[in-house]
Amino acid sequence: MDGWIDIGALELTDRKPVRIAVDGDAVLLLKTGNQVFAIGNQCTHQGAGLDRGVIKIAGSVNTVTCPAHGSMFNLETGKTMRPPATKPVPVYDVKVEEGRVFVRPRET
Ligand code: FES
Repeated sequence: MDGWIDIGALELTDRKPVRIAVDGDAVLLLKTGNQVFAIGNQCTHQGAGLDRGVIKIAGSVNTVTCPAHGSMFNLETGKTMRPPATKPVPVYDVKVEEGRVFVRPRET
């Protein structure tokens, strides 16, 4: 299956973060319109859950801000956009087929 991992049938609500497990790692899934983002859920600063953070969908730059100390991550690339975190979170490709969600770790 080219590295795709079947997460199963999920009801994704627009702009409502969902926390899933992928091979033992916590991953944040976020749907907005026809797009679904998936990044590591654990902040690279001190490990807070990004699924409790503030989501900002602004077209070309879509972000989540860590609820603990305000690090900001790009939902598309996983890159840090605001400290104190300095390392990116992992990023995953996502596809939805007949209601089933598949993710695949993206090579960076
Ligand atoms: S744990 Fe996320 S900014 Fe500190």
